[in-house]
Amino acid sequence: MAEPEPVTMDKIVSLSRRRGFVFPSSEIYGGMGSTFDYGHYGVLMKNNIRARWFEAMVRNRDDIVAIDSAVILHPKVWEASGHVGGFSDPLIDCRTCKLRFRADKLEDSNCGRKPSKRPGETPECDLTEPRQFNLMFETTVGALQEEGSRAFLRPETAQGIFINFKNVLQIARRKPPFGIAQTGKSFRNEITPGNFLFRVREFEQMEMEFFVPPDEADKWYRYWIDERLNWYRGYGLRDSKLRVREHGPEERSHYSQGTSDIEYDYPIGWGELEGIANRGDFDLTQHTEHSTTKLEYVGQDGERYVPYVIEPAVSIERIMVAMLVDAYDEEVVGDRERTVLRLHPQIAPVTAAVLPLIGKNDEMVGKARGLYEELRRRHSVEYDDGGAIGRRYRRQDEIGTPWAFTVDEQTLEDDTVTVRDRDSLAQERLPIADVRDWIEAALERDWKSPKES
Ligand code: GAP
Repeated sequence: MAEPEPVTMDKIVSLSRRRGFVFPSSEIYGGMGSTFDYGHYGVLMKNNIRARWFEAMVRNRDDIVAIDSAVILHPKVWEASGHVGGFSDPLIDCRTCKLRFRADKLEDSNCGRKPSKRPGETPECDLTEPRQFNLMFETTVGALQEEGSRAFLRPETAQGIFINFKNVLQIARRKPPFGIAQTGKSFRNEITPGNFLFRVREFEQMEMEFFVPPDEADKWYRYWIDERLNWYRGYGLRDSKLRVREHGPEERSHYSQGTSDIEYDYPIGWGELEGIANRGDFDLTQHTEHSTTKLEYVGQDGERYVPYVIEPAVSIERIMVAMLVDAYDEEVVGDRERTVLRLHPQIAPVTAAVLPLIGKNDEMVGKARGLYEELRRRHSVEYDDGGAIGRRYRRQDEIGTPWAFTVDEQTLEDDTVTVRDRDSLAQERLPIADVRDWIEAALERDWKSPKES
């Protein structure tokens, strides 16, 4: 059998656009590089990723609570966190081609010349010395642009958690080990955004800060690496495409006592999907010093210490690219080609499609609409009566809908429908009255990517 063609980023971009997952932003004004808008299926898929993360990190646990902090925080937060002084990339400009490069990524960059060259490779290249470029977006708060009105859009959600440590400790009556989780937009003025959603300037982070007694930090660091890796496996990412890479000391952020990346084998090569860091007591200590509010744990027996923090941090964008790449498949069925997204059923934007076999048959349409109305109260379902049934199945395959329920002649006689499985294409019949329970049970079943043979 011929080897399947590799899944390229171009294929993912093209499907995402064709089926309305993701659009280039501001397109009617010529676009705004590396900025994207999400269409209907993109929104549904993002909602599912966020919901699965929230279940695993908050809802199904007793030791983690949620928070939703502001995007624009007091500017001193970013001084204390080290972002004003240190959240920067070294930048080099070329005076000839007017392009800008990351000094630490020159080897991976292309200069403006054709055929493509590395910056500095030709005598015409006129490169500046590296200078530090802060990645935070600045804004002004209030009507006047004056001293003291300068603020930043948050480059990570984590700091909104640290500055609320005391509130949560007191009001939620927590004791380490416990965590605070938050999802929300973060903003970074990336010098070299690109590769579709992989590196963008605004993205939705999902971060959890887990506060632990210092002598338990290493144990919890290892624990969270395993937990997060298993989360990806549970939602179908193939084992062969996942790995954990521990950072060397020179690579770690200023706050980190240990960092591991869960990496995915993207079409651009292995890249960071999620980072798990042992941040030590850096953040709580810094905010204690800068705010003069003591951020520490004091036990009833007088025991006091500054907890260490273990942080799993990821963006929905990185997960979305990994899941789309992992799910994308092309195959020939009979004499027809189909493109199919083999997404985990709990991640797929649409859980089930309801299709009358003949769209012009009023009885079939009535039954199908009845089933659709019933299912959509609980699930994301789609009704489609337009065009040949084969085309309608393929439309659903392309957006990853795991099951399609079809109302046909037999339904009118015995109130049964067929269910077609997206991956195996197997069909079975079941009573229309059982469809709701069937979906509930199917969603609970363990799922493994059929691409992992
Ligand atoms: N609070 C720690 C922190 O923000 P980070 O490694 O800079 O650490 C965490 O970011 C995660 O956020 C990354 O693992 C990645 O999933 C995501 N992320 C970071 N920058 C991103 C970008 N420009 N576009 C998309 N996702 C990004």
